[in-house]
Amino acid sequence: MCGIVGAVAQRDITPILVEGLKRLEYRGYDSCGVALYINGQLKRTRSTQRVAELEALIKEDNFSGFTGIAHTRWATHGAPATHNAHPHFSGQDKGEPRIALVHNGIIENHDELRDELKALGYAFESQTDTEVIAHLINHLYNGDLFETLQQAVRRLEGAYALAVFCRDEPHRVVGARQGSPLVVGLGNNENFLASDALALAGTTDQIIYLEDGDVIDLQLSKVWIIDSHGKPVERRVHTVHAHTAAADLGPYRHYMQKEIFEQPRAVGDTLQDIDNITPDLFGDDAYKIFKDIDNILILACGTSFYAGLTAKYWIESIARIPVNVEIASEYRYRDSVPNPKSLVVTISQSGETADTLAALKHARSLGMEHTLTICNVQTSAMVRECKLNFITRAGVEIGVASTKAFTTQLVGLFLLTLALAQVKGRISEEKEADYLKQLRHLPTAISAVLALEPQIMAWADRFASKENALFLGRGMHYPIALEGALKLKEISYIHAEAYPAGELKHGPLALVTEHMPVVTIAPNDELIEKLKSNMQEVRARGGELYVFADNDSKIVNSEGMHVIRMPEHYGKLSPILHTIPLQLLSYHAACVRGTDVDKPRNLAKSVTVE
Ligand code: G6P
Repeated sequence: MCGIVGAVAQRDITPILVEGLKRLEYRGYDSCGVALYINGQLKRTRSTQRVAELEALIKEDNFSGFTGIAHTRWATHGAPATHNAHPHFSGQDKGEPRIALVHNGIIENHDELRDELKALGYAFESQTDTEVIAHLINHLYNGDLFETLQQAVRRLEGAYALAVFCRDEPHRVVGARQGSPLVVGLGNNENFLASDALALAGTTDQIIYLEDGDVIDLQLSKVWIIDSHGKPVERRVHTVHAHTAAADLGPYRHYMQKEIFEQPRAVGDTLQDIDNITPDLFGDDAYKIFKDIDNILILACGTSFYAGLTAKYWIESIARIPVNVEIASEYRYRDSVPNPKSLVVTISQSGETADTLAALKHARSLGMEHTLTICNVQTSAMVRECKLNFITRAGVEIGVASTKAFTTQLVGLFLLTLALAQVKGRISEEKEADYLKQLRHLPTAISAVLALEPQIMAWADRFASKENALFLGRGMHYPIALEGALKLKEISYIHAEAYPAGELKHGPLALVTEHMPVVTIAPNDELIEKLKSNMQEVRARGGELYVFADNDSKIVNSEGMHVIRMPEHYGKLSPILHTIPLQLLSYHAACVRGTDVDKPRNLAKSVTVE
């Protein structure tokens, strides 16, 4: 999704802006641009290609400057075209641009503001909601950009992170945050703004996380923040260790492949320092809150939603607490029946997903105060907004398609299951110790599954020529089938759907012909005989089965039935292991088809708009 970098310094900042955009590329974008103050004028370059292309244009134009802003855009209002790319300019006097602005988020009252500004004589060159803000600021400009921005944001409805500078105040960049993340990076006689601290890695590690309602004035040796009440405020400075290592591909072809293979490490790190199961893993008040609740409501989007669906099976069967799992964008607008004794659990890799944050706020507004998040980013809004949290230690995930974040979320959710079961008195000490032992063995077990890569590559070759695929699972492996289908469609663009295997005969069986590959997750659990019958239903219609089976499940290779054996049967944690081969299958199918694996078309990593 959109990314922002801004800087005010006494040296040429173009390399910092370009490097920052490159670090934000993984979030997904379809155009990019940079604006600089050069010899008393505002200049910009924009491109609908990659940041590398923009960098070449900057070199070609011989751009350099000490104040500027840059942006990667993921289109919402207006097509991905150069005239819609940010930065947007405004300036009516002599036609020369005076204001340059970049924006993440969506301005909901843009139509009304556009009409007003048109009536004042402003001409619009884009279809964006963003250009409206540039003209509004230009219209209100009184010689002090910081004051003007404070006035302008009062007119804005919706979500935004903004960075703005003005031709008439060349040593100043101002910004504002409401609903979309924005951070300040502190330097020595230079200061920076970005939508993510990662963008500034290598430039500064001194980071301030702005809060909703903050408006910020950035000058060479001064950073001034006004909060939502218009009062000056000091915000904590965090030392954020640069995630430079994450940007290194090492021996891998893509970040997604690297991240799939990092899972033993990511799961191991997530379990590090956990000597025993205790509610304290989730925060100081966890015991009290877990005691009080009688129900769980899980809210999430995308892959994180499927982690939530898996957790429902675990929590209900081990902790015996009823669980509802809802897609955040649905829940936030649904007329639901609140239960103040619910534990509201949000799951989010980024901790920034707009719909999940809004769903959390909605739940709170209905009187549900017990909130917990499973999140991969300690400094995110989600962690700040929830009373309790568990931080997964997947490390920065760059591939748009989530892999290591998902498996570490599952680890966090399994720990939550055990802690809840403990507080509710529904698990024996022996059983708890047994589960903990299995969790500790997970990194080794995942490594053994990763070793199946060559066999999976052979399957991927056959998949690559297909346009459709079905995924089947039963019980707690049904959400894993959903995740497998999502992975395949998002990176290889093969249309894939997942069903609980028992549902096949109620519709999807009509799609099964010899051209339909059917991926089946077949662990040797209590549902295996039922699943075998479902597989026969597929074979009888000529469908080709690709089965991930346990050694002892007696499913063998035969005509139309391809079997890969999982190294070990893993009981309740089996969904985590079965995720891995599905990631590899999608990854290699996408490689054969030659798609842009790490940045699939139309998708973004952190979806910070509704
Ligand atoms: C986007 C990403 C997905 C992710 C989803 C939820 O759609 O492409 O990979 O699962 O957002 O993101 P979150 O950061 O809240 O887990």
